Amino acid sequence: SNERESAEQRLKEVCELLQTSVGYYDWVGFYFANEAERTLHLKAFAGEPTDHTVIPFGKGICGQVAVSNKNFVVPDVKAQDNYIACSITVKSEIVIPLFKDGKNIGQIDIDSHVEDPFSAEDERFLEWVNEEVAKIL
Ligand code: SME
Repeated sequence: SNERESAEQRLKEVCELLQTSVGYYDWVGFYFANEAERTLHLKAFAGEPTDHTVIPFGKGICGQVAVSNKNFVVPDVKAQDNYIACSITVKSEIVIPLFKDGKNIGQIDIDSHVEDPFSAEDERFLEWVNEEVAKIL
């Protein structure tokens, strides 16, 4: 429907705003869960296109957050064994679950080319972004 297209367009604008505003946010995307399939689906992003548009629950940092419902901050991706590499330039990653009506329906995923850039401030900021995004879905 048109309503769904405009929600995806707004999500893309959020990705672009974050990616252009914060120097160490090199790739920004929103994945949403398909509960029946137990998969995550990339709905909007800013940065280089990725092959990983569908991620099974449990797989990689994103898939782990789909089941843990917890923030996942990765200062150094090389130190993770359950990790899906999108680009060799990525050094670190942060994934914050997105809750609607108390339910984990997806997540924001940010990759950085900088090592260990994400602080508690990024976590609080991105939790707030997700709360705002939940209102437009
Ligand atoms: N690195 C992620 C996969 C998604 S890409 O970063 C866009 C992961 O391990 O889940």
